[in-house]
Amino acid sequence: MARAAVLTATGRPLEIRDDVEVEAPRAGEVKVRMAAAGVCHTDLSMSDGTVMAPTPIVLGHEGAGVVEEVGEGVTRVQPGDHVVISWVPQCGECFFCRRRQGHLCERASAAIASGGLLDGTTRFTSRGAPLHQMSAAGTFSEVTVLPESGAVKVDDDLDLGLAALLGCGVLTGVGAATRTARIAPGDTVAVLGCGGVGLNVIQGARLAGAGQIVAVDANPAKLETAERFGATATVDASAGDAVSAVMRLTGQRGADVAFEVIGLPQTIDQAVAMTRRGGQAVLVGIARMDTMLTVPAFLGVVLAAKTITGSWYGSSNVVEDVPALVDLYRKGQLELSGLVSRTIALDDVNAAFDALRAGEVTRSVIRFDR
Ligand code: APR
Ligand code: ZN
Ligand code: ZN
Repeated sequence: MARAAVLTATGRPLEIRDDVEVEAPRAGEVKVRMAAAGVCHTDLSMSDGTVMAPTPIVLGHEGAGVVEEVGEGVTRVQPGDHVVISWVPQCGECFFCRRRQGHLCERASAAIASGGLLDGTTRFTSRGAPLHQMSAAGTFSEVTVLPESGAVKVDDDLDLGLAALLGCGVLTGVGAATRTARIAPGDTVAVLGCGGVGLNVIQGARLAGAGQIVAVDANPAKLETAERFGATATVDASAGDAVSAVMRLTGQRGADVAFEVIGLPQTIDQAVAMTRRGGQAVLVGIARMDTMLTVPAFLGVVLAAKTITGSWYGSSNVVEDVPALVDLYRKGQLELSGLVSRTIALDDVNAAFDALRAGEVTRSVIRFDR
Protein backbone atom coordinates (compact mmCIF):
# COMPACT_ATOMS: atom_id res chain seq x y z
CA MET A 1 0.00 0.00 0.00
CA ALA A 2 1.14 3.51 -0.77
CA ARG A 3 -0.11 7.02 -0.16
CA ALA A 4 -0.66 8.94 -3.36
CA ALA A 5 -2.33 12.11 -4.66
CA VAL A 6 -5.07 11.25 -7.13
CA LEU A 7 -6.94 13.46 -9.59
CA THR A 8 -10.40 11.88 -9.73
CA ALA A 9 -11.93 14.43 -12.14
CA THR A 10 -10.81 17.63 -13.81
CA GLY A 11 -11.27 20.70 -11.63
CA ARG A 12 -11.37 18.78 -8.34
CA PRO A 13 -8.73 19.00 -5.64
CA LEU A 14 -6.37 16.02 -5.55
CA GLU A 15 -7.50 13.28 -3.21
CA ILE A 16 -4.86 11.89 -0.87
CA ARG A 17 -5.40 8.15 -0.72
CA ASP A 18 -3.51 5.78 1.51
CA ASP A 19 -4.88 2.59 -0.02
CA VAL A 20 -3.09 2.57 -3.37
CA GLU A 21 -1.85 -0.87 -4.31
CA VAL A 22 1.34 -0.86 -6.33
CA GLU A 23 1.94 -3.94 -8.46
CA ALA A 24 5.42 -5.47 -8.76
CA PRO A 25 7.46 -4.25 -11.71
CA ARG A 26 6.99 -6.27 -14.89
CA ALA A 27 9.76 -7.02 -17.40
CA GLY A 28 11.76 -3.88 -18.17
CA GLU A 29 10.23 -1.93 -15.27
CA VAL A 30 11.44 -0.71 -11.91
CA LYS A 31 9.77 0.08 -8.61
CA VAL A 32 11.00 3.30 -7.04
CA ARG A 33 10.46 4.51 -3.47
CA MET A 34 10.05 8.23 -4.02
CA ALA A 35 12.07 10.58 -1.85
CA ALA A 36 10.90 13.82 -3.40
CA ALA A 37 8.59 15.18 -6.11
CA GLY A 38 8.41 18.69 -7.52
CA VAL A 39 5.04 20.37 -8.12
CA CYS A 40 5.26 21.70 -11.69
CA HIS A 41 2.82 23.90 -13.58
CA THR A 42 1.98 20.99 -15.89
CA ASP A 43 0.55 19.07 -12.89
CA LEU A 44 -1.68 22.06 -12.20
CA SER A 45 -2.59 22.27 -15.91
CA MET A 46 -3.75 18.64 -15.82
CA SER A 47 -5.76 19.14 -12.68
CA ASP A 48 -7.57 22.22 -14.00
CA GLY A 49 -8.15 20.84 -17.51
CA THR A 50 -5.74 23.07 -19.46
CA VAL A 51 -4.19 19.77 -20.52
CA MET A 52 -6.42 16.72 -20.88
CA ALA A 53 -5.90 13.90 -18.44
CA PRO A 54 -7.43 10.41 -18.25
CA THR A 55 -8.90 10.06 -14.76
CA PRO A 56 -8.49 8.80 -12.13
CA ILE A 57 -4.77 9.49 -12.33
CA VAL A 58 -1.80 9.79 -9.99
CA LEU A 59 -0.23 13.11 -10.98
CA GLY A 60 3.43 14.07 -10.70
CA HIS A 61 6.13 13.73 -13.32
CA GLU A 62 9.12 15.32 -11.61
CA GLY A 63 10.84 13.39 -8.84
CA ALA A 64 13.69 11.35 -7.48
CA GLY A 65 13.95 8.27 -5.31
CA VAL A 66 15.59 4.95 -4.63
CA VAL A 67 15.08 1.79 -6.69
CA GLU A 68 13.43 -0.86 -4.56
CA GLU A 69 12.82 -3.69 -6.99
CA VAL A 70 13.54 -4.40 -10.65
CA GLY A 71 11.62 -6.49 -13.17
CA GLU A 72 13.03 -9.14 -15.48
CA GLY A 73 15.71 -8.03 -17.92
CA VAL A 74 16.40 -4.67 -16.29
CA THR A 75 20.03 -3.72 -16.84
CA ARG A 76 20.31 0.02 -16.32
CA VAL A 77 19.64 0.14 -12.59
CA GLN A 78 19.54 -2.14 -9.54
CA PRO A 79 17.90 -2.03 -6.12
CA GLY A 80 19.47 0.68 -3.96
CA ASP A 81 20.33 2.96 -6.89
CA HIS A 82 19.32 6.59 -6.60
CA VAL A 83 17.39 7.76 -9.65
CA VAL A 84 15.88 10.88 -11.20
CA ILE A 85 12.56 10.39 -12.96
CA SER A 86 12.48 11.21 -16.67
CA TRP A 87 8.95 12.04 -17.78
CA VAL A 88 9.79 10.89 -21.28
CA PRO A 89 11.04 7.32 -20.85
CA GLN A 90 13.32 7.24 -23.90
CA CYS A 91 13.32 3.69 -25.27
CA GLY A 92 16.54 4.05 -27.26
CA GLU A 93 15.28 1.94 -30.16
CA CYS A 94 12.42 3.68 -32.01
CA PHE A 95 12.59 5.93 -35.10
CA PHE A 96 13.20 9.06 -33.02
CA CYS A 97 15.52 7.53 -30.42
CA ARG A 98 17.74 6.17 -33.21
CA ARG A 99 17.92 9.69 -34.68
CA ARG A 100 19.04 11.17 -31.37
CA GLN A 101 15.62 12.70 -30.75
CA GLY A 102 14.74 10.63 -27.69
CA HIS A 103 12.57 13.45 -26.36
CA LEU A 104 10.12 12.52 -29.14
CA CYS A 105 10.32 8.75 -28.39
CA GLU A 106 7.38 7.00 -30.05
CA ARG A 107 6.91 4.44 -27.32
CA ALA A 108 7.05 7.09 -24.62
CA SER A 109 4.58 9.35 -26.44
CA ALA A 110 2.08 6.50 -26.79
CA ALA A 111 2.47 5.60 -23.12
CA ILE A 112 2.01 9.19 -21.95
CA ALA A 113 -1.12 9.57 -24.08
CA SER A 114 -2.57 6.32 -22.71
CA GLY A 115 -1.98 7.29 -19.09
CA GLY A 116 -0.15 4.02 -18.59
CA LEU A 117 3.31 2.50 -18.93
CA LEU A 118 4.88 1.32 -22.21
CA ASP A 119 2.29 -1.46 -22.66
CA GLY A 120 -0.57 0.95 -21.93
CA THR A 121 -1.45 -0.60 -18.58
CA THR A 122 -0.92 0.87 -15.13
CA ARG A 123 0.55 -0.56 -11.92
CA PHE A 124 -1.67 1.39 -9.49
CA THR A 125 -5.03 0.18 -8.18
CA SER A 126 -7.26 1.81 -5.60
CA ARG A 127 -10.75 0.91 -4.43
CA GLY A 128 -11.03 -1.76 -7.08
CA ALA A 129 -10.17 0.44 -10.06
CA PRO A 130 -6.88 1.04 -11.87
CA LEU A 131 -5.34 4.50 -11.54
CA HIS A 132 -3.55 6.07 -14.49
CA GLN A 133 0.02 7.31 -14.14
CA MET A 134 0.97 10.77 -15.40
CA SER A 135 3.81 10.64 -17.92
CA ALA A 136 4.38 6.92 -17.37
CA ALA A 137 5.42 7.88 -13.84
CA GLY A 138 3.05 9.34 -11.23
CA THR A 139 5.56 10.78 -8.78
CA PHE A 140 2.94 12.01 -6.28
CA SER A 141 3.05 8.56 -4.71
CA GLU A 142 5.30 7.10 -2.02
CA VAL A 143 6.08 4.28 -4.42
CA THR A 144 5.74 4.05 -8.18
CA VAL A 145 6.56 1.63 -10.97
CA LEU A 146 7.90 2.89 -14.26
CA PRO A 147 9.85 1.80 -17.34
CA GLU A 148 13.57 1.44 -16.59
CA SER A 149 14.24 4.13 -19.18
CA GLY A 150 12.25 6.51 -16.96
CA ALA A 151 14.69 6.07 -14.07
CA VAL A 152 18.07 7.73 -14.62
CA LYS A 153 20.79 6.76 -12.14
CA VAL A 154 22.54 9.52 -10.19
CA ASP A 155 25.24 9.48 -7.50
CA ASP A 156 24.10 8.48 -4.01
CA ASP A 157 25.41 11.64 -2.37
CA LEU A 158 23.20 14.00 -4.36
CA ASP A 159 20.32 15.51 -2.34
CA LEU A 160 17.21 13.84 -3.77
CA GLY A 161 15.06 16.91 -3.14
CA LEU A 162 17.27 18.86 -5.53
CA ALA A 163 17.85 15.95 -7.90
CA ALA A 164 14.07 15.74 -8.41
CA LEU A 165 14.08 19.10 -10.17
CA LEU A 166 16.49 17.87 -12.80
CA GLY A 167 13.85 15.58 -14.29
CA CYS A 168 11.48 18.29 -15.49
CA GLY A 169 12.12 21.96 -14.72
CA VAL A 170 15.86 21.89 -15.25
CA LEU A 171 16.03 19.57 -18.28
CA THR A 172 13.13 21.37 -19.97
CA GLY A 173 14.46 24.87 -19.35
CA VAL A 174 18.21 24.43 -19.71
CA GLY A 175 17.64 22.10 -22.66
CA ALA A 176 15.41 24.63 -24.44
CA ALA A 177 18.30 27.10 -24.28
CA THR A 178 21.24 24.82 -24.97
CA ARG A 179 19.78 22.02 -27.08
CA THR A 180 16.66 23.32 -28.86
CA ALA A 181 17.80 26.89 -29.52
CA ARG A 182 21.54 26.34 -29.52
CA ILE A 183 22.15 29.86 -28.23
CA ALA A 184 25.46 31.21 -29.52
CA PRO A 185 27.91 33.10 -27.30
CA GLY A 186 26.98 36.77 -27.19
CA ASP A 187 23.34 36.23 -28.27
CA THR A 188 20.65 38.50 -26.93
CA VAL A 189 17.94 36.39 -25.32
CA ALA A 190 14.46 37.25 -24.01
CA VAL A 191 12.60 34.90 -21.68
CA LEU A 192 8.86 35.38 -21.11
CA GLY A 193 7.83 33.68 -17.89
CA CYS A 194 10.27 33.29 -15.00
CA GLY A 195 8.73 30.36 -13.15
CA GLY A 196 10.32 26.98 -12.46
CA VAL A 197 10.95 26.34 -16.14
CA GLY A 198 11.71 29.92 -17.28
CA LEU A 199 14.41 30.38 -14.62
CA ASN A 200 16.10 27.34 -16.06
CA VAL A 201 15.92 28.80 -19.57
CA ILE A 202 17.67 31.83 -18.09
CA GLN A 203 20.42 29.79 -16.49
CA GLY A 204 20.72 27.72 -19.67
CA ALA A 205 21.19 30.93 -21.65
CA ARG A 206 23.86 32.02 -19.18
CA LEU A 207 25.62 28.65 -19.50
CA ALA A 208 25.50 28.98 -23.30
CA GLY A 209 27.29 32.33 -23.04
CA ALA A 210 24.41 34.62 -24.00
CA GLY A 211 25.28 38.32 -23.86
CA GLN A 212 22.12 40.08 -22.79
CA ILE A 213 19.41 38.04 -21.04
CA VAL A 214 16.13 39.93 -20.68
CA ALA A 215 13.67 38.39 -18.21
CA VAL A 216 10.00 39.24 -18.71
CA ASP A 217 7.31 38.47 -16.12
CA ALA A 218 4.12 40.06 -14.85
CA ASN A 219 5.13 39.33 -11.26
CA PRO A 220 7.93 41.64 -10.03
CA ALA A 221 8.99 39.15 -7.34
CA LYS A 222 9.81 36.63 -10.08
CA LEU A 223 12.01 39.21 -11.78
CA GLU A 224 14.16 39.51 -8.66
CA THR A 225 14.70 35.76 -8.70
CA ALA A 226 15.43 35.91 -12.44
CA GLU A 227 18.36 38.26 -11.77
CA ARG A 228 19.85 35.71 -9.39
CA PHE A 229 19.64 33.10 -12.19
CA GLY A 230 21.48 35.25 -14.73
CA ALA A 231 19.06 37.82 -16.16
CA THR A 232 20.94 41.01 -17.10
CA ALA A 233 17.79 43.10 -17.59
CA THR A 234 14.17 42.74 -16.49
CA VAL A 235 10.82 43.81 -17.90
CA ASP A 236 7.74 43.99 -15.69
CA ALA A 237 4.98 42.92 -18.09
CA SER A 238 2.31 44.23 -15.71
CA ALA A 239 3.69 47.76 -16.03
CA GLY A 240 3.43 48.27 -19.80
CA ASP A 241 3.90 46.71 -23.21
CA ALA A 242 6.55 43.97 -22.92
CA VAL A 243 7.30 43.95 -26.66
CA SER A 244 8.20 47.64 -26.84
CA ALA A 245 10.28 47.31 -23.69
CA VAL A 246 12.31 44.47 -25.20
CA MET A 247 12.61 46.40 -28.48
CA ARG A 248 14.02 49.36 -26.54
CA LEU A 249 16.58 47.11 -24.88
CA THR A 250 17.67 45.60 -28.22
CA GLY A 251 18.19 48.66 -30.41
CA GLN A 252 14.64 48.24 -31.82
CA ARG A 253 15.85 45.05 -33.55
CA GLY A 254 14.43 42.42 -31.20
CA ALA A 255 16.07 39.45 -29.49
CA ASP A 256 18.18 36.87 -31.29
CA VAL A 257 16.22 34.24 -29.41
CA ALA A 258 12.93 34.75 -27.53
CA PHE A 259 11.44 31.99 -25.35
CA GLU A 260 7.80 31.73 -24.32
CA VAL A 261 7.61 29.77 -21.06
CA ILE A 262 4.03 30.41 -19.93
CA GLY A 263 1.62 28.98 -22.53
CA LEU A 264 -0.77 31.91 -23.05
CA PRO A 265 -1.93 33.23 -26.45
CA GLN A 266 -0.85 36.80 -25.76
CA THR A 267 2.62 35.91 -24.51
CA ILE A 268 3.15 33.56 -27.47
CA ASP A 269 2.33 36.47 -29.81
CA GLN A 270 4.67 38.70 -27.82
CA ALA A 271 7.55 36.21 -28.05
CA VAL A 272 7.21 36.00 -31.83
CA ALA A 273 6.92 39.79 -32.12
CA MET A 274 10.04 40.48 -30.03
CA THR A 275 12.20 38.09 -32.08
CA ARG A 276 14.51 39.95 -34.48
CA ARG A 277 14.60 39.35 -38.24
CA GLY A 278 16.44 36.09 -38.77
CA GLY A 279 16.01 35.14 -35.11
CA GLN A 280 14.28 32.28 -33.32
CA ALA A 281 11.10 32.24 -31.28
CA VAL A 282 11.08 29.14 -29.09
CA LEU A 283 7.75 28.02 -27.63
CA VAL A 284 8.13 26.05 -24.41
CA GLY A 285 4.94 26.78 -22.42
CA ILE A 286 2.06 24.33 -22.78
CA ALA A 287 -0.95 26.21 -24.12
CA ARG A 288 -4.56 25.08 -24.02
CA MET A 289 -5.38 22.68 -26.85
CA ASP A 290 -7.53 25.28 -28.64
CA THR A 291 -4.82 27.96 -28.69
CA MET A 292 -3.87 28.84 -32.27
CA LEU A 293 -0.72 30.46 -33.53
CA THR A 294 -1.53 33.36 -35.84
CA VAL A 295 1.37 35.10 -37.52
CA PRO A 296 1.31 37.17 -40.71
CA ALA A 297 2.88 34.75 -43.21
CA PHE A 298 4.77 37.29 -45.30
CA LEU A 299 5.61 40.13 -42.91
CA GLY A 300 5.88 37.94 -39.84
CA VAL A 301 7.73 34.93 -41.18
CA VAL A 302 9.06 35.17 -44.76
CA LEU A 303 10.26 38.77 -44.88
CA ALA A 304 11.28 38.50 -41.24
CA ALA A 305 13.12 35.21 -41.98
CA LYS A 306 12.10 34.05 -38.50
CA THR A 307 12.18 30.55 -37.13
CA ILE A 308 9.30 29.63 -34.84
CA THR A 309 10.06 26.39 -33.11
CA GLY A 310 8.59 24.23 -30.38
CA SER A 311 10.71 22.81 -27.59
CA TRP A 312 9.56 19.54 -26.05
CA TYR A 313 11.36 18.38 -22.90
CA GLY A 314 14.27 20.66 -23.79
CA SER A 315 15.17 18.32 -26.69
CA SER A 316 16.85 16.31 -23.94
CA ASN A 317 18.72 13.08 -24.10
CA VAL A 318 18.26 12.13 -20.46
CA VAL A 319 21.06 9.57 -20.31
CA GLU A 320 23.60 12.20 -21.34
CA ASP A 321 22.03 15.34 -19.95
CA VAL A 322 21.21 14.33 -16.37
CA PRO A 323 24.87 13.48 -15.52
CA ALA A 324 26.03 16.62 -17.36
CA LEU A 325 23.69 18.75 -15.25
CA VAL A 326 24.87 17.05 -12.06
CA ASP A 327 28.46 17.93 -13.07
CA LEU A 328 27.52 21.56 -13.60
CA TYR A 329 25.77 21.61 -10.24
CA ARG A 330 28.87 20.22 -8.49
CA LYS A 331 31.03 22.86 -10.18
CA GLY A 332 28.72 25.54 -8.83
CA GLN A 333 27.53 26.55 -12.30
CA LEU A 334 23.95 25.29 -12.02
CA GLU A 335 21.61 26.71 -9.38
CA LEU A 336 19.20 24.19 -7.89
CA SER A 337 18.39 25.18 -4.31
CA GLY A 338 17.18 28.62 -5.45
CA LEU A 339 14.37 26.88 -7.35
CA VAL A 340 12.88 25.43 -4.17
CA SER A 341 10.54 27.87 -2.47
CA ARG A 342 8.89 25.42 -0.10
CA THR A 343 9.42 21.89 1.12
CA ILE A 344 6.08 20.25 1.84
CA ALA A 345 4.37 16.98 2.72
CA LEU A 346 2.25 15.05 0.21
CA ASP A 347 -0.88 16.18 2.06
CA ASP A 348 -0.06 19.81 1.21
CA VAL A 349 -0.16 19.29 -2.57
CA ASN A 350 -3.44 21.18 -3.08
CA ALA A 351 -2.10 24.13 -1.12
CA ALA A 352 1.00 23.96 -3.34
CA PHE A 353 -1.26 24.23 -6.41
CA ASP A 354 -2.90 27.33 -4.91
CA ALA A 355 0.50 28.87 -4.20
CA LEU A 356 1.68 28.17 -7.76
CA ARG A 357 -1.49 29.67 -9.21
CA ALA A 358 -1.06 32.74 -7.01
CA GLY A 359 2.56 33.19 -8.12
CA GLU A 360 3.87 32.76 -4.58
CA VAL A 361 6.35 29.98 -5.33
CA THR A 362 8.80 28.72 -7.92
CA ARG A 363 8.75 25.07 -6.89
CA SER A 364 7.17 23.36 -3.93
CA VAL A 365 8.97 20.09 -3.38
CA ILE A 366 7.15 17.22 -1.70
CA ARG A 367 9.37 15.22 0.68
CA PHE A 368 7.86 11.84 1.36
CA ASP A 369 9.51 11.50 4.75
CA ARG A 370 7.36 14.32 6.12
N1 APR B 1 2.83 37.92 -18.73
C1 APR B 1 4.04 37.70 -18.16
N2 APR B 1 4.28 36.72 -17.27
C2 APR B 1 3.26 35.92 -16.94
C3 APR B 1 1.97 36.08 -17.48
C4 APR B 1 1.77 37.14 -18.42
N3 APR B 1 0.57 37.36 -18.98
N4 APR B 1 1.16 35.12 -16.97
C5 APR B 1 1.95 34.37 -16.14
N5 APR B 1 3.21 34.86 -16.11
C6 APR B 1 4.36 34.31 -15.36
C7 APR B 1 4.05 34.01 -13.91
O1 APR B 1 4.17 35.17 -13.10
C8 APR B 1 5.11 32.95 -13.58
O2 APR B 1 6.31 33.51 -13.08
O3 APR B 1 4.73 33.06 -15.92
C9 APR B 1 5.40 32.27 -14.93
C10 APR B 1 4.92 30.83 -15.02
O4 APR B 1 5.65 30.09 -14.10
P1 APR B 1 5.12 28.80 -13.31
O5 APR B 1 3.71 28.96 -12.94
O6 APR B 1 6.14 28.49 -12.26
O7 APR B 1 5.17 27.64 -14.43
P2 APR B 1 6.36 26.66 -14.87
O8 APR B 1 6.35 25.43 -14.01
O9 APR B 1 7.61 27.42 -15.03
O10 APR B 1 5.82 26.21 -16.30
C11 APR B 1 5.73 27.15 -17.36
O11 APR B 1 6.00 25.50 -19.06
O12 APR B 1 6.13 23.22 -18.83
C12 APR B 1 5.30 24.28 -19.14
O13 APR B 1 3.09 23.55 -18.47
C13 APR B 1 4.16 24.40 -18.15
O14 APR B 1 3.05 25.95 -19.55
C14 APR B 1 3.80 25.83 -18.36
C15 APR B 1 5.15 26.50 -18.57
ZN1 ZN C 1 7.00 19.63 -15.48
ZN1 ZN D 1 12.13 5.62 -28.43
